[in-house]
Amino acid sequence: MSLVIYEKKGRIANITLNRPEKLNALNPELVNELAKTWVDFRDDEEVWVGILTGAGRAFCAGVDIASDLEMFEAMGSIRPTRVGSLLKEAPAFRASPASYEVSKPIIVAINGYCLGGGLWLALECDIRIAVESAQFGIPEPRLGMPATFTALFQHYIPRGVAYEMLITTDRLSAQRAYEVGLVNRIVSPEQLLPAATEMAEKICQQSPLAIRAVKELLQRGRDMSRPDAMSLTDHVIHNLMGTEDIMEGFKAFVEKRPPTWKGR
Ligand code: COA
Repeated sequence: MSLVIYEKKGRIANITLNRPEKLNALNPELVNELAKTWVDFRDDEEVWVGILTGAGRAFCAGVDIASDLEMFEAMGSIRPTRVGSLLKEAPAFRASPASYEVSKPIIVAINGYCLGGGLWLALECDIRIAVESAQFGIPEPRLGMPATFTALFQHYIPRGVAYEMLITTDRLSAQRAYEVGLVNRIVSPEQLLPAATEMAEKICQQSPLAIRAVKELLQRGRDMSRPDAMSLTDHVIHNLMGTEDIMEGFKAFVEKRPPTWKGR
């Protein structure tokens, strides 16, 4: 059975982590399937928005601890020569759409536990909708190491809350995650996929090229100085000029009709 269920419905791609008996923990096989999925999603011009969720009672309980243990045991004496490659090869990073330069928006529908590398995966996507019972945490220090994304995590939520989560390893409820901006919306389990789909459909009403440009600007502009961010914006908007869609958007407004996007 496939560890990632990948279904395209019109402009929307539904991606489901499908290892429910292990709470969708990221083992190498699942990460490889997810990597292929991100590449297909990135390259298929017919799909514009992704919805990522998990099968069963968890979104993702993080990196697969048993697989990591096997790897640590195998690494043994060769460990020093691997310094520098550790993070690039870390499952939490290899599972992330950002590692494949996916510029299409992705909504995460968080159906339960969202821990460790699973939380990072959710953060590397764009919008998070969660059920009331979802829980968010970074338990890695309990295993003897910091999470691989620790240095980056403080950019996502207030620093004090990041410290608290990282140092105490206490989990946040969905309500608390919502309050600190980690989650955009909380819904009932029945409403989770409908709410994500409704949001995806709303995004599909916008020009796909403009939305991809927005995502690129937000992602690449994040750590830039103001002048660098301005020249990136200049470059990205320059590339949009002359596309059919930009003409269509302006014309549709003037002609008082909804636009028909072609994605070119
Ligand atoms: N890696 C590997 N297996 C995992 C896993 C992980 N990160 N998280 C859960 N599982 C497995 C469990 O080993 C168990 O497998 P088994 O049925 O073959 O014994 C199965 O998933 C169900 O988990 P279980 O612990 O029985 O469920 P629970 O409801 O009692 O507890 C958690 C749920 C999420 C609190 C608990 O599984 C847990 O702490 N997981 C580890 C989370 C973690 O440390 N993540 C960071 C990894 S770097």
